[in-house]
Parts: sequence; C-alpha cells; structure tokens
Amino acid sequence: MNFLGSFPNTRLRRLRQHPWIRDLHQETILTPQDFIWPIFIRTPQGDPAIRTLPGVKRYTKEELVPAVEEALALGIKAIALFPQTDPSLKTADGQEAWNPENLVCQTIRYLKKHCPEIGIIADVALDPYTGHGHDGLLIDGKIVNDLSVDALVRQALTLAETGVGALAPSDMMDGRIGVIRKALDQTGFSDLPLFSYSAKYASSLYSPFREAAGSGSCLKGASKATYQMNPANAREAMREMAFDIEEGADALIVKPGTFYLDIIRKASDTFPVPIHAYHVSGEYSMIKAAAEAGYLSYEETLLENLLAFKRAGATAIWTYGAIDAARMVSKK
Ligand code: PBG
Repeated sequence: MNFLGSFPNTRLRRLRQHPWIRDLHQETILTPQDFIWPIFIRTPQGDPAIRTLPGVKRYTKEELVPAVEEALALGIKAIALFPQTDPSLKTADGQEAWNPENLVCQTIRYLKKHCPEIGIIADVALDPYTGHGHDGLLIDGKIVNDLSVDALVRQALTLAETGVGALAPSDMMDGRIGVIRKALDQTGFSDLPLFSYSAKYASSLYSPFREAAGSGSCLKGASKATYQMNPANAREAMREMAFDIEEGADALIVKPGTFYLDIIRKASDTFPVPIHAYHVSGEYSMIKAAAEAGYLSYEETLLENLLAFKRAGATAIWTYGAIDAARMVSKK
C-alpha cells in the first residue's frame, strides 16, 4: 500500500472547494512574527526618498519611533537598521563603523529608550563607511580577509556595547563568525546572538539597496564577487553554513531569497539551526514596479513570495514589505 490513493476514490479537489476547507488544510501560514523589517536610517540632512524602492523611505531616529510602534502593534518583533552615511565620514578603512556616536549607534540608543520591546538587528560590514563601497578593506586592489575581520570585530564590539539585540555579519569574509564570537565572549557579550549571512550571493538584486544606503555610487560598478558567493554554486553554500555553525552562528541567512529557494530548502533539510530568508531590495522592487505598471497585484504577489520562503523551510523573513505583509496576514 502506498497511501497515495487513486482516482476516482480519491479526488484532491474535495479539499479545495471552499475557503474553510482550504484554510483547514493549509500547510504553511505566514504570521507577522515571521518578519524582520529592514529600515534605512538618515540624519536630518538626509533625503527621505529612495528612487529605487517605491514605498520605502529613509527615517530619522525620531521618525522611527511611530513607525516602530506601528510595526509592534502589527505583531512585528524585529527590525534591522541600515544607515545612509554622510559621504564626508567615509574613509578607506571605514573607521566610522566603530564610532560609538555613528548614526546606527545613536539610533539604537534612541530606540532602546523609546521602543524597548523591539528587537534591533545591525549589520556587521564596512560598506556604509568605506569610500570604495566594499564590505572589507581594499589594499592594492584586493579585499584583504584577515585585516577586514579585525575591523569587523571593532564594529561588532561597538554595536554590542551600544546594546544591539543581534548582530548580522553580512561581509562574507572567511572566519569572521568565529573571531567575532570569541571577541564577544571575551568582553561579556556571550549572550549576544549572531545571525550570519552565510549564503550571500554576489547578486544583481542588491542595486536598489546600494542606492538607498549610498554605497552604490562609491562602488562605481565594482564587483563583490571575490567575497560574495557565485550564484552558480549550491554545494559551496553548505560549506559556508557548516563553517558558520561551527564558528558559533545562532541562525543562518540565505540571500537573496527567491532565486535561491533551493538553497533555503537544502539548508533547512541539512542543518538543525534556524534559517532566515532575505527578500532583498531588488526582489521587492521588481514586484513594486510590476504592480505600478499594472501587471500584477503587489499585495498578492508579495504574500505569495514570502509564503514560498516559509514553505521552503525559512523560519524568519527579512522584507521591505514587512508592514504591508503584516497588515495583510492579520486581516486575512
Ligand atoms: C551590505 C549589505 C547589502 C545588503 C545587505 N547588507 C548589499 C551588498 O552586499 O552590497 C543587501 C540587501 C538588499 O539588497 O536588500 N553588506
């Protein structure tokens, strides 16, 4: 007996006839607590509008308070902060990254005071702070690994001391999770979680983000392919993930999400650790642009896209559409 049944005894459409019976047998359900809302932050002098991300804006720390309160009221538990750094503060070594008065640190302190329940995640990577726009240090035309990791540790410790809720190293240097974990453990932060961007691909889909964060014009078309992964590789992603778990990562991020659903599925089948999917800027913008052109529904497509991450095995989803999606799943 194979338990598959056969026609006409078995008719699969019986369980699809009405909303109640479809809902009853739904395998995967999105909830607002699945979402991490990535937010761009600015100084009062910065521009709120982001040309490449319709419906997304840059916030000052004061503007963030009502936005985060709205997110919390909708059931969203976590945000991730991405700064637009004043170009005058960008240097070759990205030292603004470990300035305890930088925009991210100021925003973290402000939010902890005014919205203490929200989980605050911060990226560990130098790209918001380097004049060349890379995530690591550029020496003689190369992104050097170990010196970059030293700089990332300084950034991580500064964020830890500021009171961040979790760190998300997005730089893709080798060995950084282990070195950051050890530095945190030695300085009294053994409880601070690390969400590692383990399988982060060198993707064209990051362009809208780079405009929003201001690193695109610094990169001047340069590629990140010497540190981010080759989109052609799946088995290599398993090595990245295995290393990061070994080095002390608490959760692993696959990024982008939609083109890499096979990686999410494989990761969740292979490793008993939480897997996050990052619905990146280009994924969001594609849906927005198509909806604005009248080709499809933003709401329906967004929800179907996010559902696919969860169905593939993701336990958390980073998306610029978090507020819209939370509203929709709550009223469904
Ligand atoms: C930078 C970083 C990037 C994203 C998150 N952190 C861009 C990049 O690697 O160039 C991309 C997010 C998105 O496209 O939404 N370390």
